[in-house]
Amino acid sequence: SVSSSIAPLQPIFPRPASATSPPPEPPALASLISHLKLQPHIEGGYFAETDRDTLRIPNPFLAASAPATATTSKSIAALRGDPDFDPEQENATRSASTSIFYLLTPGTPLGAWHRNRGRTVHTLHWGKGRYVIIHADEVGEDGKARVETFVVGKDVLKGERLQWIVEGGKFKSSFLLPDDEGEASGGLLISETVIPGFEYSDHDFLRGEKLKELVTPEQAKELGWMLRN
Ligand code: GUN
Repeated sequence: SVSSSIAPLQPIFPRPASATSPPPEPPALASLISHLKLQPHIEGGYFAETDRDTLRIPNPFLAASAPATATTSKSIAALRGDPDFDPEQENATRSASTSIFYLLTPGTPLGAWHRNRGRTVHTLHWGKGRYVIIHADEVGEDGKARVETFVVGKDVLKGERLQWIVEGGKFKSSFLLPDDEGEASGGLLISETVIPGFEYSDHDFLRGEKLKELVTPEQAKELGWMLRN
């Protein structure tokens, strides 16, 4: 059961469901957000894309029967300027990789349940948080997916992780934790590299009904607060 391993599972700074724009942040975080040009992320938190490889590779998520065509080696920008460009070709390739900064703050402490088709390499810069992963591709005899949780932070001797990989297709959520001094006002800042590069068409949110299919009723109750409102 997840219960024994991830209690207490509560947002430490709950955000009203009615909030339409991110709330004010501590001054140091407000400066950081502006300096790094971070934008509100649809999952919660803030992000900025810091790199997008100009190399285009064949989209590995297309069925093998629909391989990428000769457009692979041209940039999409170049393709768009081409009068012969077929927009359907756009999905034929992906950037080889993309990277972002991702920040959770007291004002927006939750990265809501979602998945990407690409695998994601995460690296901690500072702060502490909890990740919960639903291994939708690892279903047991009871028909339920494996659920995993771990703390990301600098105390590697206590088992906290500085670096963590989430393979494509797995559902992921995360939330800010207070550090050892009981503070979280520096937020949780990480970098994420997605391979192949991020596209909205490779991203989706977990819905409540799907959560109930994937995990036990007890787990669904425990993990439901991390669904996107
Ligand atoms: N745009 C919106 N969300 C994301 C993301 O997670 N990564 C990248 N690279 N771009 C995004």
